[in-house]
Amino acid sequence: MNKPNRKGTQKEPSAQRQRENADPDEGVRPLPWFLTMFLGAMAMWGAFYIYSTPSGENSAYGDQRTVATLRPPEQITGAVSKVDGKQVYSSKCVACHQATGAGISGVFPPLAASEWVTGDPKLLINILLHGVVGEMEVAGTVYKGAMPAWKTLSDDELAAVMSYIRSDWGNKAAAIAPADVAAQREATKARTEAFKGGAELKSGS
Ligand code: HEC
Repeated sequence: MNKPNRKGTQKEPSAQRQRENADPDEGVRPLPWFLTMFLGAMAMWGAFYIYSTPSGENSAYGDQRTVATLRPPEQITGAVSKVDGKQVYSSKCVACHQATGAGISGVFPPLAASEWVTGDPKLLINILLHGVVGEMEVAGTVYKGAMPAWKTLSDDELAAVMSYIRSDWGNKAAAIAPADVAAQREATKARTEAFKGGAELKSGS
C-alpha cells in the first residue's frame, strides 16, 4: 500500500496517511453484460424486421390497403362524365334492379345482359329520362311494371349511371357522354309521361 498523496510531491507519506482509505468518488457502473447483449439483439432484430418486411404493393401487412387503392381516382376529362356511375346506381337503382344487376325475376327486369341496356343509347336514354310503364320484353321475359323517370338527375349523373350499367356484370357497351343525354333531353322535352312499354320505346319519339 503505497498510494501517492493528493499533491504527489511528498516522497514518503506519513504512516497515518497510509492508513487512510482514498476519498470515495462517484463511479460509473457499466451495464450488466446480459442487458447489453439483449439490447443489441433487439436492435439487430428490429433492423432485420424492417428490412425483411415487404411494403408498398404487398398488403398482407398493416391495414391491407395497397398503394393502388390509396391513389386518387384518375380524373378522366373530356366526353366522359366525372360523376361516379356506380354511386348513382347504388343510391337510385339498386333497390329494384339489385346490386348484381339481375333484377328480381318477374318484377324488376335485369340490367345484366339486357338488350335495352347494351343496345341503342337513344332508347336507353329515353328509358332513363322518361321511365316506362307497361309491357316490355327483357332478355326473353315480359315485364309489366313501372320504371320511374329520372329526368331530375343531371346529364352528368345520367351519363355516368348509364355508362356504368353498360360496363358492369359482363355488359360491354360503349360509354354514354353527358352531351348525348343533353341532346336527347332537348329532343324529347315535350314528353310529360312515361313510355307505354317496349313497343312505344322502339317506335321512337
Ligand atoms: C322502383 C323500382 C325501380 C327503380 C328504382 C329503377 N327501376 Fe329501372 N325498371 C323498373 C321496372 C319495373 C322496369 C320495367 C318497366 C316495364 O315493365 O315497363 C325497369 C326497366 C328498366 C330498364 C329497361 C329494361 C331492362 O331491364 O333493361 C332499364 C335500362 C332500367 N330500368 C334502368 C334503371 C336505372 C339505371 C335505374 C336507376 C337510375 C333504375 N332503372 C331504377 C323498376 C325500377
